Amino acid sequence: LFIVHLTPELAPVAKVGGLADVVFGLAHELQLRGHHVEILLPKYDCLRHDHIWDLHEAYSDLWVPWFNGTVHCTVYFGFVHGRRCFFIEPHSSDNFFNRGGIYGFDDDVLRFAFFSRAAMEFLWQSGKHPDILHCHDWQTALAPVFLYEIYQHLGMTHPRVCFTIHNFKHQGVTGPQLLSATGLNRPEYYAHYDRMRDNFNPHALNLMKAGVVYSNFVTTVSPRHAAEAKDQGQGFGLEPTLHIHHAKYGGVVNGVDYKVWNPEIDPYIPYRYGLDSLDDKYKNKRALRDRLMLADSDKPIIAFIGRLDPQKGLELLRHALFYTLHRRGQFVLLGASANGQINHYFWGLKHQLDDNPDIHIEIGFNEELSHLIYAGADIILVPSRFEPCGLTQLIALRYGTVPVVREVGGLADTVFDRDYSDRPEDERNGYVFKDYDYSGLESALGRAISCYYRHPVEFRELMRNGIRCDFSWNHPGRDYLNIYHYIRDK
Ligand code: ADP
Ligand code: GLC
Repeated sequence: LFIVHLTPELAPVAKVGGLADVVFGLAHELQLRGHHVEILLPKYDCLRHDHIWDLHEAYSDLWVPWFNGTVHCTVYFGFVHGRRCFFIEPHSSDNFFNRGGIYGFDDDVLRFAFFSRAAMEFLWQSGKHPDILHCHDWQTALAPVFLYEIYQHLGMTHPRVCFTIHNFKHQGVTGPQLLSATGLNRPEYYAHYDRMRDNFNPHALNLMKAGVVYSNFVTTVSPRHAAEAKDQGQGFGLEPTLHIHHAKYGGVVNGVDYKVWNPEIDPYIPYRYGLDSLDDKYKNKRALRDRLMLADSDKPIIAFIGRLDPQKGLELLRHALFYTLHRRGQFVLLGASANGQINHYFWGLKHQLDDNPDIHIEIGFNEELSHLIYAGADIILVPSRFEPCGLTQLIALRYGTVPVVREVGGLADTVFDRDYSDRPEDERNGYVFKDYDYSGLESALGRAISCYYRHPVEFRELMRNGIRCDFSWNHPGRDYLNIYHYIRDK
């Protein structure tokens, strides 16, 4: 198959969260299976060029219809660790992608609507005929609308569209002026409830909803979350739309790229280790302590790595920090937020706890440090309010770092409680709690810390069970291919 991914993020060149890792890993898996894969993304000024090879101009004359005129774009081609990528650069006075960051601007909806239109125009003008277009999140959800409502009428052979929702919380809700920008010229038609009208606000359009309506198949990133979003109020208003389109909707658990996330070959950690050399993990623990100036002791290190977003369970995270101290543990937090107030709050916490030798709070995005934390920590905490899939617990498992998670979304599909799971003992790989409250968190984290101190042999067994789990792209790669073939042949 010829598969084109349209995405706002790609690891490691343009990464905010897990979506970037997913496109990076899935594209490679599909390539390994013999398919031709291309990735289209904006040419942000903040791309990490040290991970792009052979970048050159591929198409200098792309004219994209926009409002009443056109915007001139240049398309660049380059390899990102072997993945074929096209980067679209508009030469408009708006400088859509020269803002020093990926998201967080007032005109984000317009920026990504433009990207989606430009991507479709590029496929059309360059005469590419992909079998499958795989779109990710609201930022690219307009592509199937353009395809169906504009390009098909121009005579474009119709690729089938798979739309993956990584996060229902962000849907790209906007006013009707979007239509005149993008050339979707019949406002009453598009603003109809069956197409793009937001389910809450009758005067607004919802790009993610449009993606659901216009795609041939819709996935989210775990079966549990697929059900939560459709039936348990976690669809942020899209529940009725998912019900209407339930026959083309499902969940596929993300994979992890074990070429990047693997303690046996990880170039970012000082001591490589695996199942047969688990003791070397503790050398990394020492290295982590040295680097972060944590006290040397027999205490377990509990870590959190993630976006500091309310989604991630920030009240429980804060509570866990103090609870860990109380239970004779050390805590490492690596996180960043796009929200100034949240960052400010965590800076405050950092200053308050600065002299404590058992705590380190690192605010910012630091890929390299994240590797050392996965390797050096004993326990990783993921206390999310909701979690479509979650990659940090999957990465941690590979590093023999025991996950303590809330039983929600992809966390519930991948972590099985040592004491209470009905799975066979050798498949239990962590600790799970149900209710979003302090006592829920304490019950699971408390059990993990006691096991660490009192039953080291059992704790080691848990670490081994985690390392043995297979969350590679092998299974999800096959699942996506099944979806692609199904929609192509339908
Ligand atoms: P989400 O996509 O909701 O942010 P995931 O768990 O799916 O959550 O993916 C998060 C990814 O981003 C992981 O690869 C994690 O290691 C990485 N990450 C998150 N925050 C940071 C940070 N501050 N520094 C480095 N890596 C981070
Ligand atoms: C999202 C979700 C996360 C998921 C990631 C990749 O941002 O919050 O749970 O793992 O996308 O699919």
